[in-house]
Amino acid sequence: MSADPREAPDRVEPGDPDEGAPEGEDGLDELTPRQIVRELDKYIIGQDEAKKAVAIALRNRWRRRQVEDELRDEILPNNLILIGPTGVGKTEIARRLARLAGAPFVKIEASKFTEVGYVGRDVESMIRDLVDVAVNLVRSEREGEVESVAEERVEEGLLDLLLPLKPSKGGPGHGEAGPEEEGGDRPPVFIAGPGGVKARSGARGEEGGEGGAGSSPREADAERLARTREKLRKLLRDGKLEDREVEVEVEQTASLDGMMAPMGGMEGMDFNFTEMLQDMLPKRTKQRSVSVAEARRILLQEELDRMIDMDEVINDALDRVEDTGIVFLDEIDKVTRERGGGASGPDVSREGVQRDLLPIVEGSNVQTRYGMVRTDHILFIAAGAFHVAKPSDLLPELQGRFPIRVELSSLGEKEFVRILQEPKNALVTQYRALVAPEGVELEFTDDGIRELARIAARLNESMENIGARRLQTVMTTLLEDVLYQLPESGEGHVLVDARFVRERLDSIAKDEDLRRYIL
Ligand SMILES: Nc1ncnc2c1ncn2[C@@H]1O[C@H](COP(=O)(O)OP(=O)(O)OP(=O)(O)O)[C@@H](O)[C@H]1O
Ligand SMILES: [Mg+2]
Repeated sequence: MSADPREAPDRVEPGDPDEGAPEGEDGLDELTPRQIVRELDKYIIGQDEAKKAVAIALRNRWRRRQVEDELRDEILPNNLILIGPTGVGKTEIARRLARLAGAPFVKIEASKFTEVGYVGRDVESMIRDLVDVAVNLVRSEREGEVESVAEERVEEGLLDLLLPLKPSKGGPGHGEAGPEEEGGDRPPVFIAGPGGVKARSGARGEEGGEGGAGSSPREADAERLARTREKLRKLLRDGKLEDREVEVEVEQTASLDGMMAPMGGMEGMDFNFTEMLQDMLPKRTKQRSVSVAEARRILLQEELDRMIDMDEVINDALDRVEDTGIVFLDEIDKVTRERGGGASGPDVSREGVQRDLLPIVEGSNVQTRYGMVRTDHILFIAAGAFHVAKPSDLLPELQGRFPIRVELSSLGEKEFVRILQEPKNALVTQYRALVAPEGVELEFTDDGIRELARIAARLNESMENIGARRLQTVMTTLLEDVLYQLPESGEGHVLVDARFVRERLDSIAKDEDLRRYIL
């Protein structure tokens, strides 16, 4: 094995991949297959074959991009098919993989598509969806980068609104201008009084009189304003002014929904006509009285819009889709044609869907509202239970485009014991966190966990096998009373041991009628 895990041993450690931690465009490229698997291990128990396969596929995509043009086109992308029953981690693996890589990811049910020309979605829409996801992803990354500066500016803007220094036309983000700078034109602050023109605060006479000592009245006034501003800033930061009303200027976007309805609504309009029209209409602004809390949201949005170059975001997003995009095609087995069975009606369209998929998976250009996208390097991960149909029932050409098949194993008691507690987002961890705000410690003993796993596994055997999803239903049933009775029950510590589990679940698990509806 040439992959040297020592090269960047902790490369992926610091950022929790769960926290939307795209590691930048290069994150993916720097992860070796082993590192990818190690990251996936934090969330998915077992399924080593599948993890290995996706890790290799991901790395191969990067490797392929390094190969010189001529040969590169000869190397097929490592698209794969994950085969396995429900609830064993197929979607989870793909989703985690994408997050880990900061890659745009969409999950689509293949059965939702219809052949071009039929009613329904055409397959190209998945690429358009992917681009939308990428644009949002890149935009929120950019927002993260400029957020702190934007927030500072918004604070100044809010202070301007709370305590106008100058005619309020300036809008947010210009508060830095010192009060003296434009001291000449501050009509709202001045009133004409008996002693000539005086600043309003001065007229109240709190600190009046000293105005002449060294500094001009105007400077003193400016100083006072600055001081007030700092006081307000403190109140603002302490969250004491959230309900205060301020006037903000908001852009009014004319609602087009009503106008478009007669044209059959906006459903399925891919080039987002509405947005285009809205951009074309003249913008009207309007003064609105809102709370500080809402003004902050409005100003922040405006500030971010100003700071983020959307053209650049779109460019990056398109690159990101082409180089790192991942499409998860669920229920691929549902678009196979059943062998032997009298092929009729819907089957024709199913095969049509497969045929439509071909060029996209193979590599072609798809027009999106942000521009053309080449699909050559997009990684396609198909998944299906393949209970009835087999991968060999897919169109031969399509089979060729999904050269890698991996079977996921069904999960049993042993895996459940681990799934309950080991993943970063394990159910046990989730519920412990959920009751913590009530001041309660939820403790699961080993035998309690084992008992839970045993009951879940047994239910999967005797009823439908829904894989790890069974743990959810079992856990919610188990803890229902506890969750309901808190905080009144006044318990500080809840011990979930085998007895606790049996007491609560055994009767339900044994009663066929009950368990059908509850577990
Ligand atoms: N191997 C596993 N390790 C940890 N958690 C798992 C595992 N398999 C499934 N889960 C949990 O069960 C849930 C369902 O899994 P997932 O969505 O991956 O199922 P699936 O295999 O895609 O099933 P389906 O065919 O129904 O789509 C996940 O959210 C995850 O929390
Ligand atoms: Mg799934």
